[in-house]
Amino acid sequence: TATPRVLSGIQPTADSFHLGNYLGALRQWVALQESHEAFYCVVDLHAITVEHDPDALRRRTRIAAAQLLAMGVDPERATVFVQSHVPEHAELAWVLGCLTGFGEAGRMTQFKDKSSKQGTAGTTVGLFTYPILQAADILLYSPEPGPGERVFHVPVGEDQRQHLELTRTLAQRFNHRFGDTFVPPEAYIPAGAAKITDLQEPTAKMSKSASSPQGIVDVLEEPGPMRKKIMRAVTDTGSEVVYDEEKKAGVTNLLRIYSALEGVPVTALEERYAGSGYGQFKKDLAQLVLDTFTPIRERTLALLGDEERLDRLLAQGADRASRVAARTMDTVRERVGF
Ligand code: ADP
Ligand code: NA
Repeated sequence: TATPRVLSGIQPTADSFHLGNYLGALRQWVALQESHEAFYCVVDLHAITVEHDPDALRRRTRIAAAQLLAMGVDPERATVFVQSHVPEHAELAWVLGCLTGFGEAGRMTQFKDKSSKQGTAGTTVGLFTYPILQAADILLYSPEPGPGERVFHVPVGEDQRQHLELTRTLAQRFNHRFGDTFVPPEAYIPAGAAKITDLQEPTAKMSKSASSPQGIVDVLEEPGPMRKKIMRAVTDTGSEVVYDEEKKAGVTNLLRIYSALEGVPVTALEERYAGSGYGQFKKDLAQLVLDTFTPIRERTLALLGDEERLDRLLAQGADRASRVAARTMDTVRERVGF
């Protein structure tokens, strides 16, 4: 059977990805390129749905792309590109927006959350139509529908399920009205994706927008502060290294990180650290995080220091993405009546 296709995107909204992004999403991108024809996109159009600084956006877009490559996304196998380099994303978003009901868009819970935080004055129409742009990001890279069509996967966490459902609905609606054009994408839950919580508030998600600097570990962080943060992670007054989401959220989060990074089950770690207390456990975990992120940091800095090489890789990615996107858009334009 034909290789399935996968599409995923990430926003360039920080100067580094964090441990949650890595274990919850990006590490799986590296694995998925083995089994799928992969398209990975730095979604800078999405990053302007809230107020932004142009120089910061430009810098963060490059940092994001460099980190993906440094983590092991292989630009020869996967197509790594920047969304704004492929204008078809905005064009398809317009067409899909004209197929989306106003009330249907208004039911997106992520918009309700984000807009209530922004207030009416800070909420843009772009934030409202964000899920439609996301649908376009995905459907542009749809395999061709028909007999023997290839499977189309989109990795999603819980918070993106509703948006993927809208994408499927729009694909089916377009197909129904204008003829088979898109393969509705399927949610793909990658094996080994872990949800990581804040080191200081272990019941809350580790998040670039909500976590304090002490609660979040950045991939590009200096080794010294990185080690300190892990040593100072909130645990509890006990001393047993055991997994208990309710009573020991801090230790449980650290166990989950350890297990994901080393690829050993939590139970094996509980046995390894039985009777040894939190100190040695945290020390070993800190070393494991450093061993994982130091080479990624070094490769990222090397790529950022070689502007020509990074430009060339992104131009190559944009070129490959454009070939697929242009083909899809040709069909869409013809079917819509342009
Ligand atoms: P943030 O929550 O820091 O703003 P994003 O929303 O940009 O991060 O998320 C980018 C990707 O990283 C998404 O696939 C998301 O599911 C994943 N992700 C973000 N935070 C975590 C976390 N704490 N644990 C696991 N995955 C996460
Ligand atoms: Na977020």
